[in-house]
Amino acid sequence: MKPTILLTGKTGQLGSELHRLLPRLGDLIAPDRKALDLIEPETIRRIMHSMKPQLVVNAAAYTAVDAAETHESDALAVNAEAPHLLALEAKEIGATVVHFSTDYVFDGSKNAPYVETDPPNPLNAYGRSKLAGEQAIRDSGASHLIFRTSWLYATHGRNFLLTVLRLATERQELKIVDDQMGAPTCAADLAAATTTILAALIADAKSQLISPHLSGTYHMTAAGQTTWYEFANAILDEAARASRNLPWLASATNGRPLLAARVLPISTEEFRSPARRPAYSLLSNARLKETFGVTLPPWRTQLQGCFSPEHFPADPPVAISSR
Ligand SMILES: NC(=O)c1ccc[n+]([C@@H]2O[C@H](COP(=O)([O-])OP(=O)(O)OC[C@H]3O[C@@H](n4cnc5c(N)ncnc54)[C@H](OP(=O)(O)O)[C@@H]3O)[C@@H](O)[C@H]2O)c1
Repeated sequence: MKPTILLTGKTGQLGSELHRLLPRLGDLIAPDRKALDLIEPETIRRIMHSMKPQLVVNAAAYTAVDAAETHESDALAVNAEAPHLLALEAKEIGATVVHFSTDYVFDGSKNAPYVETDPPNPLNAYGRSKLAGEQAIRDSGASHLIFRTSWLYATHGRNFLLTVLRLATERQELKIVDDQMGAPTCAADLAAATTTILAALIADAKSQLISPHLSGTYHMTAAGQTTWYEFANAILDEAARASRNLPWLASATNGRPLLAARVLPISTEEFRSPARRPAYSLLSNARLKETFGVTLPPWRTQLQGCFSPEHFPADPPVAISSR
């Protein structure tokens, strides 16, 4: 089977990695926002009708967590209404939807990794919009895989890795939150694992791309846990050791030296931000491993991968066991 795949969000952190990998699985159609604006229902319908993809990979999202507090309807339009329509259209043509969601659907009151069946309770508007998107896809009846991930970053886009590196060229001291626990996940590793899973499903596919019992929600994050403070320290350690010739690093630092000698831990209370964030948002990846035989590397290994000259491996680094 060589499916037609519709990818949204190809300019994003995750979408651009998927855009690189998905052509090996099928015929990829990846319209940018100009060609497929997800706030335009008619455009979604027209593209789904004319392309008739077997697989819809939705990597597009409204991801500005703080801005969503004052623009909740915009977040809902992209994160809930558009996925709902994509899923309804997918259901009609028998396509499978692959969608990404977030650890921010949880409130962080647990102190052991969240499993997929734990009750969500988002603390912020972004989390509410992502939860509504998940629910809309489930309710559509379309075959789907919802992958919840966390603390996503890449060597491009807007993220914590690039912010820390930029600030480290401007300041001698950085103050970073040390009381939120999570798993920073690199978009390249997430895309590689997603591609590995889809490759195995496509290879096994009979009349349907995925059998109904696999349809559902899975947690997919880096292994291990850390805080933003520890993550910032690790970023600066890796950057200090890395070759200054890495193009993305040169661009992130604007070619300037790293000044920051000290990272100071602060509390969430001290770092005021418009959106509340969960204090603890580790996601158990056991279901992903049991179902697909896939585990993502530890967060530190993923970070080191970014600083390696072979940042973009030719093949996905995770192996899938036979189901
Ligand atoms: N970032 C995180 O920390 C994080 C954490 C957990 C889960 N996630 C989830 O992981 C997935 C990927 O996130 P990401 O960080 O890769 O996102 P991102 O870098 O912010 O990219 C978002 C993508 O969505 C596109 N987009 C936004 N609004 C659109 C619209 N109205 N129509 C069409 N395209 C639109 C953007 O296009 P433009 O380039 O044109 O703006 C961009 O390609 C999302 O589902 C997100 O919720 C992210």
